[in-house]
Amino acid sequence: MTELMVETHGLRRTFKGRGKTVEAVRGVDLRVAPGEIFGFLGPNGAGKTTTLRMLATLIEPTEGTALVAGADLRREPGRVRERIGYVAQGGGSDPGMTGRGELVIQGRLFGLARKEAERRAVEVLEALDLVEAADRTVGTYSGGMRRRLDIGIGMIHRPRLLFLDEPTTGLDPQARAHLWDEIRRLRDGGATIFLTTHYLEEADALCDSLAIIDHGLIVAEGTPIELKRAIAGDVVTLGLNGSTDGALNLLRSAPRVREAELSDGTVRLYVEDGDLALPELLRLLDGAGMPPSSISLHRPSLDDVFLRQTGRSLRDEAA
Ligand SMILES: Nc1ncnc2c1ncn2[C@@H]1O[C@H](COP(=O)(O)OP(=O)(O)OP(=O)(O)O)[C@@H](O)[C@H]1O
Ligand SMILES: [Mg+2]
Repeated sequence: MTELMVETHGLRRTFKGRGKTVEAVRGVDLRVAPGEIFGFLGPNGAGKTTTLRMLATLIEPTEGTALVAGADLRREPGRVRERIGYVAQGGGSDPGMTGRGELVIQGRLFGLARKEAERRAVEVLEALDLVEAADRTVGTYSGGMRRRLDIGIGMIHRPRLLFLDEPTTGLDPQARAHLWDEIRRLRDGGATIFLTTHYLEEADALCDSLAIIDHGLIVAEGTPIELKRAIAGDVVTLGLNGSTDGALNLLRSAPRVREAELSDGTVRLYVEDGDLALPELLRLLDGAGMPPSSISLHRPSLDDVFLRQTGRSLRDEAA
């Protein structure tokens, strides 16, 4: 078996200040295989950045251990730092520098000789589709170009593991799709990518595997397909007028219905064979004098996974 790129045991971090203690990360076990795009999905304040900062040696864990890129996080932080790249949420390139200039400086910071740093900058500019903009100042770049440059800075020293904190936040759909392609290319070139996101679509489309984090704890993990498949069957959403209790009881005992739950006046049913269940459910409710005000059927999404585990919708929280 190949060694994991990241393996954590009981990683925990509390912040103390002004008489208040925040348990940002409350015991996280993660396994990231080499060569994959691993996604860390969760709402605001879930503990994503805190976890990433611990793994990148920027803050110390309160408890727990981790192996990062083959080195022990606590005993060999210097070795971890040599082997990883880290791009912070929001990035931070100097608007007065050119893209090429920024890359060369960062390369030299990592100990490359000038000629070598220049050569490496060209490679990175090509890899991230920034050749045409290389000699313009960063202040003239679009948001997507800036994010690509940030990623370039993170990979200038050819790290085997690259941490990207919310790489696509604030980008328009086209720039986001472009960045996804670049991230996939980095993976295909052999790097392991560990990114955070609160976009469901991004986690689904981009990540080979992912962990969903909420309030500092992992609530689900697996490939996007596995996670969605764990919600067996389809999801029916029903709007009801009047009494929901009676309807809920009725629906719970209906054939094909595995589970029924109520949130914000909407009933969610997890059903087998949704196409067949839909007309049956309509007949059942009509017959009982409780016709629904709306009804819809869909295949499970990652949001359903999140809802199932937390009782809240990640879509609502992101909005
Ligand atoms: N330096 C700090 N001091 C005190 N509390 C902190 C500190 N850093 C983070 N926290 C708290 O820890 C929790 C987790 O924050 P974190 O930044 O890890 O979340 P996140 O998942 O990255 O959220 P977002 O999606 O908004 O970036 C939050 O409640 C946050 O307020
Ligand atoms: Mg964050």
